[in-house]
Amino acid sequence: MRLLKRPRRNRKNSLSRHWRAEASIDPKDLVYPLFVVEGTKQKQAISSMPGQYRWSIDEVLTICEQTLQKGVQAIALFPALEDSLKTPDAYEALNPGNLNCRAVKEIKKRFPELVVITDVALDPYSSDGHDGLVKGGKILNDETVKILAKMAVLHASSGADIVAPSDMMDGRVLAMRENLDANHFHETQILSYTAKYASAFYGPFREALDSAPKAGDKKTYQMSPGSKREALLECEADEAEGADILMVKPALAYLDVISDLKAHSQLPIAAYNVSGEYAMIKAAAQQGWLDEAKAVGEKLLSIKRAGADIIFTYHALDDFTF
Ligand code: PBG
Repeated sequence: MRLLKRPRRNRKNSLSRHWRAEASIDPKDLVYPLFVVEGTKQKQAISSMPGQYRWSIDEVLTICEQTLQKGVQAIALFPALEDSLKTPDAYEALNPGNLNCRAVKEIKKRFPELVVITDVALDPYSSDGHDGLVKGGKILNDETVKILAKMAVLHASSGADIVAPSDMMDGRVLAMRENLDANHFHETQILSYTAKYASAFYGPFREALDSAPKAGDKKTYQMSPGSKREALLECEADEAEGADILMVKPALAYLDVISDLKAHSQLPIAAYNVSGEYAMIKAAAQQGWLDEAKAVGEKLLSIKRAGADIIFTYHALDDFTF
């Protein structure tokens, strides 16, 4: 055949393929989400997330050490509270001695170089299992935002490097920024869950925290899976309110949204490869239906290629290839 262009020439050996690829994964791109529980020497399995556990603070320190050894330099903390501490007003969220704050303090004391990201939302503390206060079946926006702004300062004063509102209330980034600045936490970054969709892929996470909504669903605050332009509206709002990093969540079913935000914003873009996306691969691998290491590498690359600079993933410490 007379062919001047033969794309296969650039695939003929691994170096040419490396030059051809725009996306790659560096451990520094990854954030490892960790679940913390009360007690000591606790390693509680989460049945829908094989390989992930709820750790007590002493055990979390060991995992943080392994995380740094892997070259992964950031973790995201999620506290799993006992039922007795969950109330309608999410009171425990503002207790300076709560599990989350103690965990952050211990981690930063031992590993000052590890970047600690905390979750700002009420669901771990709410007996209703919602990210905001609930009244008469409605999720209250402005009343919730007041609490979130206080949570941000509490987390920052415990040592959090980055606070991450995952609640999807309107105006929470501005309220958090103002309260952080008023308390001299100008350097604390806000990673906003900008486009967080009402997703079935959060199921295993809600098992981990026992945080599923007691009534209703999260559709009046999390975005509807059919909408994309709405993500740009949220992006404009978060940028105007002073967000430092924008997040899309989940990642895999929303690669187009990641790519849109990357095109529209000059801020770093994060994507959350959520619990259900993790569980799907683990389940198939356990059946012997997928090569786990290759499947994980390929899906992380897809998230990177779509435009994510940062990927939250439970696979962060796994060996993967591409
Ligand atoms: C809630 C929160 C959720 C996740 C992170 N923060 C679940 C939800 O909105 O119900 C999900 C993460 C995952 O599935 O891995 N603030």
